[in-house]
Amino acid sequence: MDTVFKRYLLFVIGFSCTLILALGQDSYYFQPHPQDKDVQKGQSVTLECGVSNSKHVVFYWTLNGEPVSNTSRRYQEGSNLFFTRVDPAKDIGEFKCIATNVTTGISLASQGAQLNILCSSKVLPGLVHSLYSFIQSLNMAGSFFV
Ligand SMILES: *[C@@H]1O[C@H](CO)[C@@H](O)[C@H](O)[C@H]1NC(C)=O
Ligand SMILES: *[C@@H]1O[C@H](CO)[C@@H](O)[C@H](O)[C@H]1NC(C)=O
Repeated sequence: MDTVFKRYLLFVIGFSCTLILALGQDSYYFQPHPQDKDVQKGQSVTLECGVSNSKHVVFYWTLNGEPVSNTSRRYQEGSNLFFTRVDPAKDIGEFKCIATNVTTGISLASQGAQLNILCSSKVLPGLVHSLYSFIQSLNMAGSFFV
């Protein structure tokens, strides 16, 4: 390598470092990060998202990397994502909150959060009933042998 090239390389590296430092002035972090939530199908829930310093910061949400659009069922409220009725067909996957400093254009992505959608409470009584019928049929079968 000749010296001119080495100097050029050093200059490029130095310049890049300075640029990264200058752009890295965004001094905010997620507080809170969205957390996994347990929720019953059809119930409402909020995924919370915030940043330590929200000056010039705008938010949007993604589901499996795709931007979440606002609907009457699921919409962004401030920096949080609100679900009026959780739908197991539409709310499965990883939700992330994206915070962008509009001045610098730099975006930070939060950690992912998921909804653990619990079976409706109708399932458990149904299960108990079928277990009960099963035991009854066993009793009846048993009576033939006694
Ligand atoms: C966003 O960028 C501007 C310009 O660099 C800066 O003044 C501001 O503090 C930044 N906001 C945050 C939350 O870091
Ligand atoms: C959804 O609504 C919120 C609050 O009204 C807004 O800040 C956000 O940009 C909207 N998101 C989309 C994808 O339009």
